[in-house]
Amino acid sequence: MTKGMFISFEGPDASGKTTQVRGITAALTARGLSFVVTREPGGTELGECVRDMLLSHRYPIMSKRTEMLLYAASRAQHVDEIIRPNLAEGKYVICDRFIDSSLIYQGLGLDLGIEDVFKVNMVATDGLLPDLTIVLGLSAEQSLERLAGKGELDRIESRSLSYHQKVSEGYRRLYELFPNRVVSFDGRLPAEVITRAIIEKIDSFKPN
Ligand code: TMP
Repeated sequence: MTKGMFISFEGPDASGKTTQVRGITAALTARGLSFVVTREPGGTELGECVRDMLLSHRYPIMSKRTEMLLYAASRAQHVDEIIRPNLAEGKYVICDRFIDSSLIYQGLGLDLGIEDVFKVNMVATDGLLPDLTIVLGLSAEQSLERLAGKGELDRIESRSLSYHQKVSEGYRRLYELFPNRVVSFDGRLPAEVITRAIIEKIDSFKPN
């Protein structure tokens, strides 16, 4: 690991992203490397307000396109305020969800279409994509089972089994869309096994 890179973590709800982010930042710290950990929606003051709008139950009749554009708006601010400046300083940027969440949750899950959602998001990110995207795969049933232990569910987590099935299936196929940057793991594997494999991936990363 010599130079900064942009790494996103993706997967269905409760797939173990937070645990993996923790493991990876421990490895970066042990190597004396500078990094920032951030998340979407959110990551900036403005983005956290948007997150609240998106995830609370305050706006139950939010239209699909509004939802997609709010995620994109949070992302645009995040890219300009946090992600690009830190990458420019040579830091690792570890992002809990990025563009692929919109492709899958809104493009597939809400049937807005992956291509249209991709186009909007290319405007939002000004063309920025992650160097590496780690996907933690999990079935919809497993995701909902894990969420059941969480207490109150947010607006997206509360959606139907069939919605979560589209999300889970979308993540299973994400590698086919972006083979150059996507690496998938079975989210049911022991966390330490996944962490070790991700660290190997990061260590072997060669910038284009
Ligand atoms: P989190 O619970 O992993 O922090 O993510 C928040 C929720 O927002 C999660 O259910 C996935 C959803 N989401 C989208 O639907 N589209 C997006 O673009 C992003 C970033 C998250």
